Amino acid sequence: MNRQDRNELNQHKSCVLWFTGLSGSGKSTLANEVEKQLYKRGIRTYILDGDNIRLGLNKYLGFSAEDRKENIRRIGEVSKLFVDAGVLVLTAIISPYEADRAIARNMFDTGEFIEIYVNCSLEICEQRDPKGLYKKARNGEIKEFTGISAPYEAPSSPELNIETGEYSLMESAEFIIEYLIQRQLL
Ligand code: ADX
Repeated sequence: MNRQDRNELNQHKSCVLWFTGLSGSGKSTLANEVEKQLYKRGIRTYILDGDNIRLGLNKYLGFSAEDRKENIRRIGEVSKLFVDAGVLVLTAIISPYEADRAIARNMFDTGEFIEIYVNCSLEICEQRDPKGLYKKARNGEIKEFTGISAPYEAPSSPELNIETGEYSLMESAEFIIEYLIQRQLL
């Protein structure tokens, strides 16, 4: 049995929706909403969320550039397995370095890696501060925090650029569903 057989059984294609953006930009929230809508359409999905993956598979990785690179490489490889299994994968990880995202992208065929820039200003993310981490980063309790004391390289040519400060959650999810329909992935 191969991927094509599994795609036929599922009656849909498989690909990866790679959500990248600052902490608090809305990656997980948006991925969860898109997943809900895909579920209603009968699509088999799975979310790989940075926060959860770091509790298990990537438990011993920190936030140095080197560890983030390994974090992203592993999540890329796991995504590849899921895509081969016929599942539409949604990843929600900051993935701050363009070169690391390119490594993940190169694991897939053209059109199968859909980079979604969850584009939200640092000001808004910091205002939201859902986990209180920006506050801690500002007063030095957390080192190498993305956007404060570590870089975030915005994607130069993402498949989708979604300004979550400008659009509602539903509108943002709709952009993604529309894109998938347009690309005949749904
Ligand atoms: S990534 O940079 O390696 O892609 P990942 O998405 O897995 O990051 O993990 C980010 C999550 O870890 C954040 O949402 C936040 O909850 C937590 N975190 C803890 N320390 C840091 C830090 N120094 N920089 C960024 N996020 C951190």
